[in-house]
Amino acid sequence: MTKETLMHGTDRAPTQGPVLSPLGSLSSLTLTRPDDWHLHVRDGDSLDAVVPHSAACFGRALIMPNLRPPITTTVQALTYRERILASVPQGMAFEPLMSLYLTDNTPPEEIDCAKASGFIIAAKLYPAGATTHSDAGISAIDLIHPVLERMEKLGLPLCVHGEATTPDVDIFDRERVFIEKTLSPLVRHFPGLKIVFEHITTSEAAQFVRAAGTNVAATVTAHHLLLNRNALFAGGLRPHHYCLPVLKREKHRRALIQAVCSGNPRFFLGTDSAPHAADTKEAACGCAGCYTAPLALGLYAEAFETEGALDRFEAFASLNGAAFYGLPPNEDKITLQRKSWKVPDYYAYLDDKLIPLRAGETVAWKLAPMSDGVPP
Ligand code: DOR
Ligand code: ZN
Repeated sequence: MTKETLMHGTDRAPTQGPVLSPLGSLSSLTLTRPDDWHLHVRDGDSLDAVVPHSAACFGRALIMPNLRPPITTTVQALTYRERILASVPQGMAFEPLMSLYLTDNTPPEEIDCAKASGFIIAAKLYPAGATTHSDAGISAIDLIHPVLERMEKLGLPLCVHGEATTPDVDIFDRERVFIEKTLSPLVRHFPGLKIVFEHITTSEAAQFVRAAGTNVAATVTAHHLLLNRNALFAGGLRPHHYCLPVLKREKHRRALIQAVCSGNPRFFLGTDSAPHAADTKEAACGCAGCYTAPLALGLYAEAFETEGALDRFEAFASLNGAAFYGLPPNEDKITLQRKSWKVPDYYAYLDDKLIPLRAGETVAWKLAPMSDGVPP
């Protein structure tokens, strides 16, 4: 594969829209280049390992700020963004959009700087202790009311990791309890605040977003669309299926599928692709996160296909998120071919391996032609 075929803008598809195979099933799908509205790339040497995977498929990604230490200021976000851009392969036009990590001590003036920067498009609420590197997160939502007021006023969206964290709440109920105790009151208190309920996993969350106003939206991951909680224990303990919020029952997975396939513009793509070295997942106390960036588009296409809803895939993947964030869609296109391909057993990562979801198994849809350029 030449460098040219990897470049955005030179990989335009030969055909537009869905193409039928001789047997009548869909054989290819051309769509506006998608964006990933929820992505972890970490920092340092991790960037060269993972940024090219996202850049090969997505035009833009909203980069999560849960580094150690977290990205809490506009200045930190600016230099982090530059480090990410340095890992974008030449000729690719990937744009990292940045988010700020809110703490109990974030001053409202930081929101002014973030908004003025032009490249920070959201601030992230991690309840303290909810997930990876969230210990500097919010301990009591009231503490950030002045910050949320400023965000509401300036039109800076709030991205929310929506899980209750008190130990009395069962891990499978954390999202539902968060909606009742925190998110519903928050939406009432700040009716003009744009909120993205991140990586929703339950029927209650899908229903909450559906019933909310146009200021509330949700991202949905590919793994929560395709797997239920049985996948955590299929034939043994499966650390590479462990993420947060944890996978839920089949009825919740079905509710998510229905939400994204409904055509409601307030559901959009966010992979939550989260790299962790194999050693740290295959451990006595394994990290949460599924690495999906190189195969996510194929996985999402599988999810829409099972529902006979591929005609609604482009809006979910490429249009709804940009519209919610007030950005234009990408100008170029990608093509997915219905062509099974084998996911590598692992990718090189730091001094270790990075095991993707579906490692060594197949995905039914393949990005053409850039997927050949994804490092093995
Ligand atoms: O599974 C997850 N991994 N969920 C999160 O919320 C964070 C992420 C990570 O950063 O590893
Ligand atoms: Zn995440």
